[in-house]
Amino acid sequence: MSLKVLVTGSAGLIGSEAVTFFDAMGARVDGVDNNMRADFFGARGDVTWNQHRLEATCENYTHHTLDIRDRTAVDELVGRLAPELIIHAAAQPSHDLAASRPFDDFDVNAGGTMALLEATRHHVPGAVFIHMSTNKVYGDNPNRLPLVELDTRFDYAPDAEVAGLTSEGVTEELSLDHCTHSLFGVSKVASDVMVQEYGRYFGMNTATFRGGCLTGPHHSGVELHGFLSYLVTQALAEGDYTMIGHKGKQVRDQLHSYDVITTFWEFAQNPRQGEAYNLGGGRHNAASNLECVELIADASGGKRPTLAFDDQARIGDHIVYYTDQAKFRSHYPGWTQKYTLPEIIDEMVHVVATR
Ligand SMILES: NC(=O)c1ccc[n+]([C@@H]2O[C@H](COP(=O)([O-])OP(=O)(O)OC[C@H]3O[C@@H](n4cnc5c(N)ncnc54)[C@H](O)[C@@H]3O)[C@@H](O)[C@H]2O)c1
Repeated sequence: MSLKVLVTGSAGLIGSEAVTFFDAMGARVDGVDNNMRADFFGARGDVTWNQHRLEATCENYTHHTLDIRDRTAVDELVGRLAPELIIHAAAQPSHDLAASRPFDDFDVNAGGTMALLEATRHHVPGAVFIHMSTNKVYGDNPNRLPLVELDTRFDYAPDAEVAGLTSEGVTEELSLDHCTHSLFGVSKVASDVMVQEYGRYFGMNTATFRGGCLTGPHHSGVELHGFLSYLVTQALAEGDYTMIGHKGKQVRDQLHSYDVITTFWEFAQNPRQGEAYNLGGGRHNAASNLECVELIADASGGKRPTLAFDDQARIGDHIVYYTDQAKFRSHYPGWTQKYTLPEIIDEMVHVVATR
């Protein structure tokens, strides 16, 4: 019998990559997405195109337009489908938007996760439950790590010896306390810790993956979420792009959505209980916003956006964040990362240019 997979947020970036991956493997894949991204971000965030793409290209995919805040409907669906693997990627994903939609943010991110966890516990307690969390659970603590300013980027000070940082980046030892998170960061902490708790308290196969900048060609990128996708779109159109704070020298590590799903698959085949992993491209896939503009220009025959600089950084925005992958790699030594940063950008330039 083939694997039964339930993916929430299935028309979003991560969810759709999961659908494609498991469908290609021959799994029976059910997806939940109510296109709330369009409600959050307007027409550019509309994911209907991606839902239709999946329905047209995947052999064993069934879409359910269902709101994960609806506990009764979630319970009924999980009971009926009895999935063996649940990938929970539905969310209000924007740091900035949460302040203007605080109840929606909390109800989707925290309440929706609870609805799914409880339905899983009642109907399929032996299933593997994977939750997409965020590095924003660390709030602005990464900004208190020792930093240096270089010509085109900020970076961690070499040889710094502080808890939560190695020469490879941020570890899971970094504190979640005593910092500013944004309302989004807090709703994600609630779900992140609850997912761990269902592993520890109930012995369920749960993991929370704290994503950094996850990217890929199927992002409905908007200014408030999906930085690289939006930057490529603006660069190719030679439109405007505003670097918000930190002189454009803020550093992020990019991980391709395909590489996200292969970490999930490693976990699903050999699950543990209540784990938390940092999930990002790592030091070698890290670049500042300014450096990304140059990489995009290299990949596109010199296309650049017209840059503006806003001195006012976003509240709690990370100055430098890249991921030490050591914990995940020590648990799953078979995992390999496929995409380098130039490859991610090349692919994205190609996709946006031919859209
Ligand atoms: N993309 C990133 O850079 C990144 C980084 C860190 C963490 N994450 C996390 O990964 C997860 C997925 O992110 P993404 O980039 O794929 O986001 P996305 O917005 O592309 O996908 C999320 C999907 O969830 C759907 N959705 C929202 N509310 C819903 C609801 N109430 N019921 C059903 N569906 C709903 C949306 O319509 C959307 O298609 C989120 O939890 C996000 O916080 C993403």
